[in-house]
Amino acid sequence: MIKIDTDILPQHIAIIMDGNGRWAEKHTIGRIRGHRKGAQAVRTAVRACREIGIKYLTLFAFSTENWERPKKEVQALMFLLEEYLTKELAELQKQEIRLTTIGEIDRLNPSVKEKLLQVKESTSQNDKMVLNLALSYGAKDEIIYAVKKILKDNLAGKINIDKLNKETFSNYLYTSGMPDPDLLIRTSGECRISNFLLWQLAYTELYFTNVLWPDFTKDDLYKAIASYQKRERRFGLISEQLREKDSSI
Ligand code: FPP
Repeated sequence: MIKIDTDILPQHIAIIMDGNGRWAEKHTIGRIRGHRKGAQAVRTAVRACREIGIKYLTLFAFSTENWERPKKEVQALMFLLEEYLTKELAELQKQEIRLTTIGEIDRLNPSVKEKLLQVKESTSQNDKMVLNLALSYGAKDEIIYAVKKILKDNLAGKINIDKLNKETFSNYLYTSGMPDPDLLIRTSGECRISNFLLWQLAYTELYFTNVLWPDFTKDDLYKAIASYQKRERRFGLISEQLREKDSSI
């Protein structure tokens, strides 16, 4: 088992769960069965994060671009999501995990949307971990949505543009109130951000692994965290300044 230091855990982990299709191809089965196996890997990752004390886990479950996939695949992904929510509600409650979402939830079909609202509402008081699902999510759309809202609020006299700064802008994003991810994991060997959390990833440590998402285990999660823990996050400063900062705390 990989060793990790539980005193310096990332507070927020974001994951681009990639490779379900290639996993299915490798096992000469249909893509949808790959997604089903991917949903199981979601359960494993959520449990492992909760167990070690990660506070926020954001999963890229469905992008705005994914709407363009074959209709059958989109329907299957929606079905798997609904099934996941139905089956996992008891576990989320038991583990005191709050479910939140980012993205254009209104585009989801009514029954998935209803289920999501129900699970979000029932878990809203849980405070051990936040499981944040990115659904019908695209970062460029999120930024445009924020800009439009700021302009509207400006017209309504609710915000003074001269006072707009990084913090107030962040509050207009779907992720308002959440810390930015400390660690981004992308599976399947692709080294791209793919329109995910563009603003929020500004200082995030990126970790790419060849493991296909359905094969992603607790051990793989630990490897990613161990790699994160070896890095020095300088936020644009130099090492010496960081040491000075640390010693003054
Ligand atoms: C990427 O694999 C994965 C997705 C587009 C969807 C992620 C969905 C799941 C993990 C299952 C359902 C989710 C939940 C929250 C229960 P890909 O199809 O792009 O793989 P490929 O690049 O190998 O074709």
